[in-house]
Amino acid sequence: MSELQQSVEAGQAGIDAGARALEAGKLVAFPTETVYGLGADAENPAAVAAIYAAKGRPQDHPVIVHVAPGAALDYWCADIPSEAYQLAEAFWPGPLTMILKRAPNIPDAVSGGQDTVGIRCPSHPVAIRLLQAFKGGRGGVAAPSANKFGHVSPTTAQHVRDEFGDDPRIAAVLDGGQSEVGIESTIVDLSRLQTHGPVLLRPGHISLDAIAAVIDQLPARPDAAAPRASGTLESHYAPHTPVAMQDTATLAATLERLHGAGRKVALIHYSPLPPVHAGIVLPATPDGFAHALYAALRAMDGTGADLILVEAPPQDGAWLGVNDRLRRAAHGSAGIVHGLINNTTEL
Ligand code: TXA
Ligand code: MG
Repeated sequence: MSELQQSVEAGQAGIDAGARALEAGKLVAFPTETVYGLGADAENPAAVAAIYAAKGRPQDHPVIVHVAPGAALDYWCADIPSEAYQLAEAFWPGPLTMILKRAPNIPDAVSGGQDTVGIRCPSHPVAIRLLQAFKGGRGGVAAPSANKFGHVSPTTAQHVRDEFGDDPRIAAVLDGGQSEVGIESTIVDLSRLQTHGPVLLRPGHISLDAIAAVIDQLPARPDAAAPRASGTLESHYAPHTPVAMQDTATLAATLERLHGAGRKVALIHYSPLPPVHAGIVLPATPDGFAHALYAALRAMDGTGADLILVEAPPQDGAWLGVNDRLRRAAHGSAGIVHGLINNTTEL
């Protein structure tokens, strides 16, 4: 944990107040090691409905249930395979979400009407203390990322406040500094293990190889019948400004042409490149890049640039999560670079 995180961490009084607000059916935003979540009591359908309303999220998209360390998995999930216990043992508390058959304690509102539930035990100390204080540690907190539907996930308390302003539905935003991991949890579907094996629904910090090392099976890519996940929509995690990715080799020439066309470019990169309208240099490692990515997208989104151009990271497996998020952030902007250079894109 960074010094920054320790220095601004919500105190126990704030955490206890957050737990009481959750118990009273209110929404509380809280830090996790991946991104900030917008939490509600998972067993209170009206509170869960308020999350959907605040986010503008479609009703049939399920939310992840967060539990305290040592929580009884079988209270929330049914038909639990031994592999789920092995993965929980290896990676919890931590950035892994498992999709399992749901138990009757999960209301329809949480699972989006599906017969499964996503469950995870986060490792951020504020999240753990909140979950321990909430219903004496026996509750579940349903929480999507604390952003408007389709937008970039928040990695600081300020990002959450920027998303929701003073939305009266949100009783508190607990501050835990900047999320360490920076991209959302790895999601692995174990609900159809017998027939389909484990399936990776969303790549993240916990890699395919790390999962395979624990359960002796490499999770497969999703098939058509895999459970739905909004994080797997083609366009997601997107800033308001169009986003494009370019290989390092072509980036300098593209920048020159965009400059020639009078375009303002905000650049997110890791190689040395000439100065532009605005720019942020990110670490050239998968963990460092992921940690800083969403804050960089938000910062560049606020610069008034015509385009956010991202230097494409390497394609190898360690970058899977980062490349997945960048591809979705850029999805709605296909052809944008060409259009801006040739003056065929209206801004
Ligand atoms: O790191 C994270 O997972 C963060 C923090 C707050 O824990 N949460 C997060 O939640 O990213 P959200 O709702 O923004 O993304 C969760 C994804 C969604 O795409 C949702 O559709 C999927 O998980 N999901 C949740 N429950 C599911 C289920 N039962 N079956 C399939 N997908 C599910
Ligand atoms: Mg989300």
